[in-house]
Amino acid sequence: MSDVEIRRGLRNVYIDTTEASFVDGQVGKLLYRGYNIHDLAEKSTFEEVIYLLLYGDLPTRSQLGELDATLRAHRAVPDDVIQVLRLVKNSHPMDALRTGVSAMSAFDEEVEDNSEEATIRKGIRLTAQAPTIVAAHHRIRNGLEPVPPNSSLNHAGNFLYMLSGAEPDLETQKLMDVDFILHAEHSSNASAFGARVTASTLSDLHSAVVTGIGVLKGPWHGGAAEEVMKMASEIGQPENAEDYARNILDNGGRIMGFGHRVYKAEDPRARHLRERSQTLGETMGQPHWFQILRYLEEKTMVPYRSRGIFVNVDFFAGSIYHLLGIPSDLFIPIFALGRIPGWTLQCVEQYGDNILLRPLLDYQGPMDLEYVPIEQRG
Ligand code: ACO
Repeated sequence: MSDVEIRRGLRNVYIDTTEASFVDGQVGKLLYRGYNIHDLAEKSTFEEVIYLLLYGDLPTRSQLGELDATLRAHRAVPDDVIQVLRLVKNSHPMDALRTGVSAMSAFDEEVEDNSEEATIRKGIRLTAQAPTIVAAHHRIRNGLEPVPPNSSLNHAGNFLYMLSGAEPDLETQKLMDVDFILHAEHSSNASAFGARVTASTLSDLHSAVVTGIGVLKGPWHGGAAEEVMKMASEIGQPENAEDYARNILDNGGRIMGFGHRVYKAEDPRARHLRERSQTLGETMGQPHWFQILRYLEEKTMVPYRSRGIFVNVDFFAGSIYHLLGIPSDLFIPIFALGRIPGWTLQCVEQYGDNILLRPLLDYQGPMDLEYVPIEQRG
């Protein structure tokens, strides 16, 4: 046994300082650049939050107008990238997004410039282009032609428009907008950490965002919303929820959408999605999704609260997307669309005071074995 101290999963390890977001997991508090997530979810827009994250403070009207115009101007992606998406039309949308972002690097003249200014410009362009990639791939895989961006719509509205070809109503736009706000930044979560590791080698932002997308895809991170909705569909009706969940838990499994490495109280983002899931379900005459989820939260998982296991941001998100008619394999890419500003900011911070992120592993294998030539091996 070696005597090195191992912090498995980097649990409770601080890797650096940040001005991006503050997370207090004990009380369930989240601030972006000092502003409470509840205020931002209720009062701001995703465009405002992008500005806040990337430039450090809330924008004036003209600063917001300028950013908004830049976002709208950069939504289109080159035809060559659309061709790449046609080639990968059968892949999971998250894989297609990862491929599309990677392909976009071939068309970004600043790809190798890791200065703060260029990184922010690239982050804004990728934030604008990524919804186009997701929507185009989705339409291509359904045998439809991509819908070009509509510059009269805001970021959230345009994404929904490019998916379906129909302009969404204002309430639906707002739902997507709030969802993007809630997902925009979350300190050194696994995908942002992955992005930082890439940036720490002085690789470029596109590579870091590709890393972030790859890390986010897993069901223990952004993939949970898709798994929650799969679970809710299998449960079918609220009265089946207890038996279904008990079967998982009694066999050592996990209920997706519960638990968090940092939050040992309720994830503050969940509140906004819970309220909207309930209202939308009732408005659309489909209250059972919310009832199923609420049963799990309020009954089955109550004993887990004493262990710090509460709902996280992913628990109610899937039910909202489902009610909006969005297929479940688009849930993770939607999370990624919201998170690109956060990844960008984490990379700006990493480049700004860089140190190679390179931890150690405690070797536990055999030592100093004698090399045996292949012809002498039994
Ligand atoms: N359901 C049941 N039990 C759980 C759950 C859950 N969702 N989450 C954690 N636990 C239990 C574990 O089984 C473990 O029990 P044990 O001590 O008896 O072995 C204990 O709680 C601690 O779990 P860890 O895996 O050590 O906690 P960690 O901080 O590493 O995990 C994680 C966090 C991966 C998010 C975990 O809670 C999980 O798998 N949740 C389900 C997936 C999910 O919802 N992910 C989204 C997270 S939010 C986000 O990424 C945006």
